[in-house]
Amino acid sequence: MNRAKFPFQTMLEYKPFSTGLQLAALLLAFFLVFNGSCDGDGNDNPPDAGLYHTYAELDNDLHALATTHPQIAQVSSIGKSVEGRELWAIKISDNVNAQENETEVVFLGGHHAREWISIDVPYLIAQHLLDEYGSNPQITALVDNAEIWIVPMVNPDGHQYSVTAQRLWRKNRRNNGDGTFGVDLNRNYSYQWGGPGSSGDTYSEIYRGPSAFSEPETQAVRDFLQAHPPRALISYHSFSQLVLYPWGYTNNASPQHGLLDSLAVAIANRIRDVHGQTYIPEQASDLYLASGDTGDWLLGVLSVPGFTIELRPRSSVPGFELPENQIQPTFEENLPAALFLMEWAIAQGNVTL
Ligand code: ARG
Ligand code: ZN
Repeated sequence: MNRAKFPFQTMLEYKPFSTGLQLAALLLAFFLVFNGSCDGDGNDNPPDAGLYHTYAELDNDLHALATTHPQIAQVSSIGKSVEGRELWAIKISDNVNAQENETEVVFLGGHHAREWISIDVPYLIAQHLLDEYGSNPQITALVDNAEIWIVPMVNPDGHQYSVTAQRLWRKNRRNNGDGTFGVDLNRNYSYQWGGPGSSGDTYSEIYRGPSAFSEPETQAVRDFLQAHPPRALISYHSFSQLVLYPWGYTNNASPQHGLLDSLAVAIANRIRDVHGQTYIPEQASDLYLASGDTGDWLLGVLSVPGFTIELRPRSSVPGFELPENQIQPTFEENLPAALFLMEWAIAQGNVTL
């Protein structure tokens, strides 16, 4: 056979290190391979958030949950982020492929990039519901009687930026066009948008965006919630250990204040019962006024009771950088509260607030 025509034929008669040139080529190849994966420039290795989920890990693990529980779990995207990442939702219910006339309950996480625990708690709730279905009667009944939707990472672009570039990034990654980046997604909802506790300055950490629902992430949440109006919702944030309910834009009490306060107290009691941690139930405006958040839109527009749970820790040390050995206990203490709210929602049926 003609070597010039079939140059790769040489591979079949390859004798290791038969010439110094081949040895040099082999060493060069090893150098390139290993150097490329170990040089620590951050471009070759996947983003790493330790035991916390990165976007890629969440994508992978949510799909794996659906694959291993095909009857009761389904992953879908509710939209895309500014940078084009899918906003993953996992639906958990019996006959998950059917839209049944069952009470819907929604759990959101990760509006704010640096609040990593707010993603892992709803993820672990999803995993727990799926693992316990069929053996734990309480959870089996919940999954049978409700359509549970969990969107653990509403702000994947910001989260990725927090993991790879700037740990304390909060907003999304909108290019504001003036050298600044980011809109505060929890100031971008439309109800009382532009009011106190939000900013029109693009560089501000609480920049509300150029208009209500200007961001694809909040548009996706809005459209999803309008298509699947829940009976109750929790949006996880961190930190401070609080159970907040609307209003956030005003110190006035909402018409549903009594109900919201009693549910928040019940949620906080269930959290405390697990590991003794106190989460304070209060109207969101008691923390500070903020306009355009999820809970105000949910109550003001959809008449749905929603709670913002500020997870561990209690105070600014360690603040957003909750040690990873606290992921599990934070999940554990929030699980009974989430189950309680689901049971309450099912008991309400389709009665409107
Ligand atoms: N820490 C959250 C935020 O700043 C909670 C907001 C809750 N609403 C409120 N009005 N305080 O987005
Ligand atoms: Zn937050």
